Amino acid sequence: MCGIVGYVGPRNVPDVLLDGLRRLEYRGYDSAGIAVLQADDIAVCRRVGPVGKLIEAVSPELTGHTGIGHTRWATHGGVTEANAHPHMDGPERIAVIHNGIIENHQALRARLQEEGVVFRSETDTEVLPHLIRKLYRGDPLEAVRSALQLVQGTYGCAVVFLDHPGTIIAARNGSPLVLGKGNGESFLASDPHALAALTREVVYLEDRELVRITTKGWEITRLDGAKIDHAIHLLEEEWGSGDKGAYMHHMLKEIHEQPESLRRCLSGRVVPEEGGARLGGLDLSPREIVAIRRVGILGCGTSFHASLVGAHAMEQLARIPSFAEIASEFRYRNPLIEPDDLFFAVSQSGETADTMGAIKEVQVKGGRVMGIVNVVGSSIARTCGRGVYVHSGPEIAVASTKAFTSQVGALLVASLMFARTRALGPHEGKNFGEELLKVPDKVREYLDNPGPILKAVELLTSGKYVFFFGRGVSHAVAMEGALKLKEVAYVPCMSYPAAEMKHGPIALIDAKTPVVAVVPDDIMRDKTLSNVQEVRARGARVVVIHTEGDHEAGRLGDVAIAVPRAPSLISPLLTVLPMQLFAYHAGLALGRDIDRPRNLAKSVTVE
Ligand code: AGP
Repeated sequence: MCGIVGYVGPRNVPDVLLDGLRRLEYRGYDSAGIAVLQADDIAVCRRVGPVGKLIEAVSPELTGHTGIGHTRWATHGGVTEANAHPHMDGPERIAVIHNGIIENHQALRARLQEEGVVFRSETDTEVLPHLIRKLYRGDPLEAVRSALQLVQGTYGCAVVFLDHPGTIIAARNGSPLVLGKGNGESFLASDPHALAALTREVVYLEDRELVRITTKGWEITRLDGAKIDHAIHLLEEEWGSGDKGAYMHHMLKEIHEQPESLRRCLSGRVVPEEGGARLGGLDLSPREIVAIRRVGILGCGTSFHASLVGAHAMEQLARIPSFAEIASEFRYRNPLIEPDDLFFAVSQSGETADTMGAIKEVQVKGGRVMGIVNVVGSSIARTCGRGVYVHSGPEIAVASTKAFTSQVGALLVASLMFARTRALGPHEGKNFGEELLKVPDKVREYLDNPGPILKAVELLTSGKYVFFFGRGVSHAVAMEGALKLKEVAYVPCMSYPAAEMKHGPIALIDAKTPVVAVVPDDIMRDKTLSNVQEVRARGARVVVIHTEGDHEAGRLGDVAIAVPRAPSLISPLLTVLPMQLFAYHAGLALGRDIDRPRNLAKSVTVE
């Protein structure tokens, strides 16, 4: 979603800002802009569309040493240049960029309009520069503080004042901001990714904190005025490269990185010789693990689908009552949370507002919640305090692929660890651990020879809509397959537990309706194959994802795709791979913007 960059220092600020905005492009946005302090005014340039258009529009003569830049993902007001950030006060001496939503913007706008303020955009953000102007008495930090005290909602914002060259004021509440330290220069961003090439020394702002940033460093205070000092974090060098390498798209590269990303996630954690697993980041003693009475796993989108697999594994392997729930629903149903519950919050970005809200709900009620997160140092990782990093490396494509398999991997490792502490014998634990450790090679084996994907894509793009079904953990895979095909190829899809088809959805099956059936060779295989027969009898054309060697299952498909054999709970790590490839190749065939599908953002930082 929206991205923020800021810079004060000796470099030429437009170059730093435009480069930073390029690095934030993957988050998803629809317009971009920068504000650069000049001697007599603030130069603002904004454009609808890609950062490339903004770069073309910024005059090469524009120079300066203090500035802010923004990529906007529209929430309030359409995708227009007038609504793009930065926004300015009436006399154009203050410029503001903002991520998040000002919930009381209508009341604030009405009050300001009564006082004669003329608004130039439809955005909620524009109340900020006008409010700040109204409250400005010479000290920029205090003006921003006073304005934010009147604001309800979420913000990560940055403000520059014509009167104060060499200074940026920034503040955070619910929308991430990170400060970067340089030599005689300081950086600001909504995502450490934007700073990776500039500095490794960063500080994460917390909610309700404000900062005055200068070339010498920064001074952080709470919204109520109290001074704060935060320790410097070192950005991990191993985070890896975010470029496409030899691949045409990030999505394809990330699909093919799964053998390595899974290996990183599993290695050193699964210990077959002990029949178990170790996850130091959870910091749970055997006694604490035995005392867990219920596990809840929360996430959104793909992370929710990984959570579903995790809940199956926790219950089946560790025999702990478990459930997975969409984080945005969980937080608003006033859930009961007991002291012996353990929650996991699953998130690739670590910044998803809905998941963060669910974490806070658990914490407010005295519950324990641990992160299953990819981005190191992200808000969710820090808010949970304890958890597991999944170590996928940077995932740039909006469609999540390698993060899903690593999230499932991490949840399977946690399930094995809990299982071994509670009821699982060393022999069974060893077998499961060994099977897990074989997965990266099996993923490689499959990706080297993925089967008739293009034939399947032809079938999947030939109907009005596509059904995905499976049972047990394979239903979670079916949901993930449907989400991928929707978001990347814009093909309408539905997913159901296979047996649900006959309770209504089968009415939609007619001659040639495409169906994807996920049928690994597990306890649900025979029942799912009966469901395949039922849709075939009504004319559906079926793509069957089955276990290698299961020819009977393969024969039921118009197209059959075999994946290597694995135990049922581990099978999602393999059955999901063809789903990812369907989405990628369907998107390609239909001419979609694969890495940045329309309307979507990589990091969903608003509710
Ligand atoms: C996945 O392909 C999606 N783009 C989306 O569903 C994503 O998984 C969801 O927004 C949650 O994001 P998170 O993992 O960063 O919390």
